[in-house]
Order: sequence, then structure tokens, then C-alpha cells
Amino acid sequence: MFRIEKKEYLAPNIVLMDVDAPRIAKNALPGQFLIVRVDEEGERVPLTICDYDAEAGTVQIVFQVVGAESYRMAALEVGDSFADFVGPLGRPSDLCELPLEELRAMKLCFIAGGVGTAPVYAQLKWLKSQGVTADCIQGARTKDILIMEKEMSEVSNLYICTDDGSYGINGNVCVALQKLYDEGKRYDRVIAIGPMIMMKFACQLTKKLEIPTIVSMNPIMVDGTGMCGACRLVVGDEVKFACVDGPEFDGHLVDFEQAMQRMTLYKTEEGRLYLEAKEGDSHHGGCGHCG
Ligand code: NAD
Ligand code: FES
Repeated sequence: MFRIEKKEYLAPNIVLMDVDAPRIAKNALPGQFLIVRVDEEGERVPLTICDYDAEAGTVQIVFQVVGAESYRMAALEVGDSFADFVGPLGRPSDLCELPLEELRAMKLCFIAGGVGTAPVYAQLKWLKSQGVTADCIQGARTKDILIMEKEMSEVSNLYICTDDGSYGINGNVCVALQKLYDEGKRYDRVIAIGPMIMMKFACQLTKKLEIPTIVSMNPIMVDGTGMCGACRLVVGDEVKFACVDGPEFDGHLVDFEQAMQRMTLYKTEEGRLYLEAKEGDSHHGGCGHCG
């Protein structure tokens, strides 16, 4: 059992928890995710790791209450435990594999959209520990739901934007990136993590600006085990699975339209049957939903 050591609401429906999980805390790297289950009957929920403290043996997760399972997770209190807390899973950010000199020479800009801020924090904190302070554009719809501002500003050069102009730059993350570019900022790489629609439009802009861009396809995962086939996506001319091959991919090669349409289809039984028939062997069976 994995005990909850800390619980905090960052916004009305966004919850932060520190969970006792020493093995994950010791082995996690930025970009990786874990799978949480409230109890034996609970659904598996894949979440990107927000922070980890090898000494304290704790792992931090941040999640939005969007359905029954996240509602059950949010109902847990300090002292309660998760039945499963499995990880670290997926491939770490490829920044972790670069020689230190190369990493330190790179001009990086992160784009953190809404709850996607949590996984960006893990990467920025790791980079800071390597002597790299990256730029970061953090977008929120409005000031009231902006999360982790203090923590983010400690590990990056932070530029905040809000869609309604209530705080920081007035506009979404693309408006903010274009503004920085127009002011003369140049980047070797953008790493965009947030809602699918945000990553899609961020990639359209960075393609135009000719900045290589990495995205995290965590939002299309369902069980995170490589079994259900939910996270199938097309990257260039290859079929990939976000939980096994990712979650990070070259954003300029990801077919976002296909991934978003598929995500909608996957939600119904009829849609899953259609996908199974259409995709044949590459559908990735084993989910038990497809009949
Ligand atoms: P949100 O809808 O409030 O959007 C956050 C910001 O994204 C906005 O303020 C805006 O700046 C930007 N954005 C949104 N739509 C855009 C568009 N069309 N063009 C340009 N910018 C746009 O975000 P939220 O409700 O906090 O996000 C929840 C989503 O984040 C969920 O869908 C979840 O799956 C996703 N998420 C993704 C990851 C990941 O690893 N990619 C991790 C955690 C959460
Ligand atoms: Fe099920 Fe990837 S989330 S196969």
C-alpha cells in the first residue's frame, strides 16, 4: 500500500499529493509516468510524475478531477493509501541522455498548459540540478486556476500567460511564444506539455518558426500498460503507442487530428469495434473492450 503523506488543492479541482513510494522516488526520471489505482476495483490511471524525493522516498502527483476515478482519488486523505502505485514507466525525456555540455549549450523553451504544468516542473527541476535554467511559458485560462507559480519560477525563467488577460501576457501559449520570438528570443527546442489542442497549435507555430518540438502524449493513455490500444498514434509514417514508445514524441511528426478523433471514438464500444476493424493487426488488442 502506498500512503498519502500530503494533500493540497492547487485550484478547486486540481489536487496535489505526495505519496510514499521509495522505489519509484529512487528510480524516476523526468518525463516518466506511473499508474495509480485507488483499490482492487479501481481503474488504472496513468499520471506523469510531477516531482520525486529519493531521500524522503516520496513521489508527487498532480491531477485534475475530471471523472469518477479521479473523484475517488481526490476523496482520499493524508494517511489513506493507494492500492497500486506502479512505476516509473515510459521513456524518460531524451534531454536526460544528452551529454552535459550539449545540454548546457541548448536554448530550451518549455510550454506548460494548465495541469500539464506538473510534468513540466519535473523536467525543469531536473534541468536546474544539471545547471540549466530553461525558459518556460505557462498558460492558464484565468489567474484563479494558475498552479505552482512559485515552484515554476524557482526552476525556470517563467513567462505566464492567461487566455482572459487576468495575469501575465494576454493570450494563449502560442501568443506568448510568438511574442518572445518577436522580441528576439531564439530556441533550439520547444517542449510542449498540456491539452492535445494546445500541443497541436503549439506545433503548428513552432513548425512555422522552425523550432524542433517535443510533445507528451499522456492525454491519450487509458491503462498505460501497452495492452488496451487506446494510445495508438501515428508519428511520421509509423504507428506508435504512447505508453510504450513514449510518452514523448517529435511533435512535428505527430498526427494530432487522427489522435484526437481516435480518442473520441475509443470512448464508445461501437467506436472501439470500428477501430478494431479498421486497424486490423496494428489495433493492439488485449483490452477486453473490443469483444
Ligand atoms: P486548459 O484547457 O485550461 O488550457 C491550458 C492552456 O493551454 C491555455 O491557457 C492556453 O494557453 C493553452 N491552450 C488551450 N487551447 C489552446 C489552443 N487551441 N491554442 C493554443 N493554446 C491553447 O488546460 P487544462 O484544463 O488545465 O488541461 C487539462 C488537459 O491537460 C487535459 O486534457 C489533460 O489530458 C492535459 N494534460 C496533459 C499532460 C501531458 O502530458 N501532455 C499532462 C497533464 C495534463
Ligand atoms: Fe493502453 Fe497505451 S494506454 S496501450
